[in-house]
Amino acid sequence: MRGIILSGGSGTRLRPLTKITSKQLLPVYHRPMIYYPLNTLIKAGIKEILIIVAPESAGDYLNLLGSGKEFGVKFTYEIQDKPEGLAQAFIIGENFIDKEDVVMILGDNIFEDDFSEEIKSFKGGAKIFAKKVPDPERFGVVKFDSNLKAEKIIEKPVEYLSNFAVTGLYIYDKRVVEIAKTMKPSERGELEITSVNNIYLEKGELEVAMVNGEWLDAGTFDSLLKAQNFAKEKLAAKMII
Ligand code: TTP
Repeated sequence: MRGIILSGGSGTRLRPLTKITSKQLLPVYHRPMIYYPLNTLIKAGIKEILIIVAPESAGDYLNLLGSGKEFGVKFTYEIQDKPEGLAQAFIIGENFIDKEDVVMILGDNIFEDDFSEEIKSFKGGAKIFAKKVPDPERFGVVKFDSNLKAEKIIEKPVEYLSNFAVTGLYIYDKRVVEIAKTMKPSERGELEITSVNNIYLEKGELEVAMVNGEWLDAGTFDSLLKAQNFAKEKLAAKMII
């Protein structure tokens, strides 16, 4: 299993904090934000990690993280020229993925859970992780049928669908590269991860597991502050990097 951290984007909701640096380099208590998703991957035993960054901050990421030797892993870097969607990561990462399974985590997502077992037991298809939230309209949302089987996923639904948001950790088999290549940009000009998930869902090959612990995307002022406090109270002591 290879790992990708998607750490580009524009961070407009955190301006002016993100005017001179990448969102995922901002401090979350005692570490730059990207250390948290990195910790999640390293803890789960992932040794080869692709870090996808925006061109203007590539040098900062290299300075901060280097080769990966310090963490006992190997980093590869790629540039995403423009933030054209989460699913573009699999096109950018085609050579890196190289016919292996891949776990992708978003650079601004902070998880309390340990995903080691979920990653080790992955047997193909796609596996995503949902969490009950009070504000599902901000996320991709899963609708479950009466047997608690995922029925569909809708990106930022305008009408209420359920409270289960799709979190920023996704596991796919190697077919994700070809799937991403066939996709067209959505109305907002992005290759949508929700479309990738729906393709696996239609094939009957999407598993939706639950996130048990805390999950935060640190992309707004309030969630960043919440992440800082949660990191101090709970996560810092459990981090291995
Ligand atoms: P978002 O929070 O949706 O987007 P953003 O980071 O650009 O912020 P804002 O909406 O405030 O402008 O992105 C989620 C994560 O995915 C975040 O870590 C950035 C990353 N990302 C990319 O690396 N490339 C992309 O094309 C997109 C859309 C997001």
